[in-house]
Amino acid sequence: MSDDKNKPNKKENKEGSGSISRRDFLKDAGLAVGAPTLGSIAISTEAAAQSKAGASGAKGGSPSAQDIAPELRAVELTVNGGKYRYMVEPNWSLRQLLRDEIGFTSPKDWCGGQGACGSCTVIMNGRPVLSCLTLACECNGATIETAEGIAKAKHPIIQAYINNNAFQCGYCTPGFVCTAKALLDKNSNPTEADVRDALGGNLCRCATYQRHPPAVLEAARNIKQKA
Ligand code: FES
Ligand code: FES
Repeated sequence: MSDDKNKPNKKENKEGSGSISRRDFLKDAGLAVGAPTLGSIAISTEAAAQSKAGASGAKGGSPSAQDIAPELRAVELTVNGGKYRYMVEPNWSLRQLLRDEIGFTSPKDWCGGQGACGSCTVIMNGRPVLSCLTLACECNGATIETAEGIAKAKHPIIQAYINNNAFQCGYCTPGFVCTAKALLDKNSNPTEADVRDALGGNLCRCATYQRHPPAVLEAARNIKQKA
């Protein structure tokens, strides 16, 4: 869940526009449910210095919370082909940055950021990572793929998930799709055991587990046929 307390004293710039709307993702995935579009991201020009200077100085006395605001760190990263530059607080997770600031909402939070469900999985530099346990300030220079980018690129895993009805409510699906895509990038000819092993950290409260291996194996076959 978002933590408003950790909302930024943000001063950030966004470059590029690699994002697509949640509607586009759901539409591509055959899941359109009339969700609101992301819309453009409001960019605050509030400077870090503002929060530090805000309540300090003239009043004297004990320092306020704003006086001890954490140092912001500059992070530049590529998400789904778009370049982004943000000032982040040291305790922000990558999930917070992607969802709450940039607007890629496919990384979910089921387990409260405990690293237990896999619903926040994204691909970072070719590897699936739990974005809830990855600090945003450590992602400088990283290349990130989310389910929005995978859907926008019409990767065969999307159609395979649709063909195999490998979801019910869809909440966990972006995490599964990212994990599966990372597997296929690394291993174009996985066995069912490989798939089950790779997806072992992703949980589904709708219990669609039996449908994921056939979907991933179908995607592997389709990728091979196109090669
Ligand atoms: S939100 Fe559950 S593992 Fe990240
Ligand atoms: S499809 Fe509902 S949580 Fe997995």
